[in-house]
Amino acid sequence: GLVNTRDMFAKAVKGGYAIPAYNFNNMEQLQAIVQACVATKSPVILQVSKGARDYANINLLRNMARGAGEYAKELGFEIPIVLHLDHGDSFETCKECIDNGFSSVMIDGSHFPYEENIALTKKVVEYAHAHDVTVEGELGVLAGIEDEVSSAVSHYTKPAEVVDFVSRTGVDSLAISIGTSHGANKFVPSQCTRNAEGILIPPPLRFDILEEIEKELPGFPIVLHGSSSVPAEYVNMILQFGGKLKDSVGIPEEQLRKAAKSAVCKINIDSDGRLAMTAVIRKVLAEKPGEFDPRKYLGPARDELKKMYMHKNINVLGSANQA
Ligand code: G3H
Ligand code: 13P
Ligand code: NA
Ligand code: ZN
Repeated sequence: GLVNTRDMFAKAVKGGYAIPAYNFNNMEQLQAIVQACVATKSPVILQVSKGARDYANINLLRNMARGAGEYAKELGFEIPIVLHLDHGDSFETCKECIDNGFSSVMIDGSHFPYEENIALTKKVVEYAHAHDVTVEGELGVLAGIEDEVSSAVSHYTKPAEVVDFVSRTGVDSLAISIGTSHGANKFVPSQCTRNAEGILIPPPLRFDILEEIEKELPGFPIVLHGSSSVPAEYVNMILQFGGKLKDSVGIPEEQLRKAAKSAVCKINIDSDGRLAMTAVIRKVLAEKPGEFDPRKYLGPARDELKKMYMHKNINVLGSANQA
């Protein structure tokens, strides 16, 4: 069955690794995630966003996730699996997921004024804990390309607030903002430098802020959103086979590896999976223009996804062999 994040996070913080939190919206993504986590003996958090619910239906997604445990067993190894609501936007959304068998929810009140974020998060925690469901809250707003005009600095999590927030809400984990952001364009070119080949080099994450937060909340589970690396391999493949992506830039693996060794125990990755699938589908359709069986391009896309997730578990997050 599905588990909540409590023991998983305690082990990960102690062990100096991070649990992969991969988003899924369809069967092929879910198969790739489970196959990769079984092959690497890694625990996993399956994330469902509001977009995923709108696309695929909550009942289908929930039952797919419940089937994931049996599927893993059939593949030869049982792994701990969490079904998590990604970026819950209201008490009602969180309640609906809790009532529908999710084992973990995020309530993202980070865009609300501080006291409103606390009140909303506390309400979700009270309902969730009564159902043995764990809760992720968020403090600080992730910079996005739409925030280009405002100073990114003012959005970082304020270390002075974290103890008050965690103790007053009772959250089980805290998502923080230290320079990551969502999507495949995490920084605007003006925030980056360029190397000799003209490749954009992003500014480093604010590990100084992370360290201050860890000092305030020793051993408390910290979450990083927006942690795709935007691999050049997939970007180039997409461009080679007719796609258009401009100034895409992600978080270098080296920095995620460092974060995983800290109290960061959950790392969210969605965009890299989108890029990998799109790259392979474009390649297959370009090379075999007569192909019209979806299995013939979704299958190879799924294989590439599995390979990518295995790489992350083994070489970036350190979650391999922790199941
Ligand atoms: O946090 C954002 C996730 O990548 C989910 O995105 O709402 O488009 O599914 P989505
Ligand atoms: P990426 O867009 O960097 O993959 O982030 C995903 C995420 O944070 C989901 O909550
Ligand atoms: Na960690
Ligand atoms: Zn996110």
